[in-house]
Amino acid sequence: MYMIWKRREESKNFVIREANPKDARQIIECMQSVMDEKIYLVGEYYLLTERGEQERLKNPDELTLVCEVNGKIVGVLTLQRGFYKKNRHTANLGIAIMSGYRGIGIGTRMITQAIQWAREHGIEKVNLEVFSTNINAINIYKHIGFEIEGIRKKQFIINGSYVDDILMTIYTSESVKN
Ligand SMILES: CC(C)(COP(=O)(O)OP(=O)(O)OC[C@H]1O[C@@H](n2cnc3c(N)ncnc32)[C@H](O)[C@@H]1OP(=O)(O)O)[C@@H](O)C(=O)NCCC(=O)NCCS
Repeated sequence: MYMIWKRREESKNFVIREANPKDARQIIECMQSVMDEKIYLVGEYYLLTERGEQERLKNPDELTLVCEVNGKIVGVLTLQRGFYKKNRHTANLGIAIMSGYRGIGIGTRMITQAIQWAREHGIEKVNLEVFSTNINAINIYKHIGFEIEGIRKKQFIINGSYVDDILMTIYTSESVKN
């Protein structure tokens, strides 16, 4: 009990910043720990090596934010801008906060910061996909201002049950929660 309280207190001193290539290993560890939970993300293994991740982090069309608590990366957000002329005004957002660091405002802060970056870079529309079972995340996204744009029915099978893919969107010109 004391350890949980201590971790919560420590976590309040979180720092959100843009990632740099030196963060590659910790980013992979953070992502993998959330993938290991199996219920939040589609991927089960982080596909890039440390070297590959370092290269990805150099891409100016991609924003990667990390959240640090006492030097440890506990949250990763990626915003991937559309690659083509036809979809460069859009970006796809992905986020993963490590177990033990959720529900204390990190996700909301990272997402609002990413939306601000998107707006400043001429991105009009930020999209994300979330499992229909991830009610907590859906509520947080709605709270920030995302709206459900579509539903791909039975897109996944998780632990033997069909799960819908919820497509959510926010227009960066609209006001966001700070
Ligand atoms: C979904 C996720 C990104 C949200 O980030 P987070 O840091 O946990 O969320 P926040 O702390 O910013 O939560 C915002 C609000 O939800 C509430 N909340 C968050 N988690 C909660 C929980 N488990 N139970 C109850 N309320 C919760 C917070 O109190 C806060 O409310 P407020 O703004 O009214 O004060 C994060 O939980 C996560 O990475 N989960 C696992 C991976 C995942 O689901 N990724 C997304 C896949 S699409």
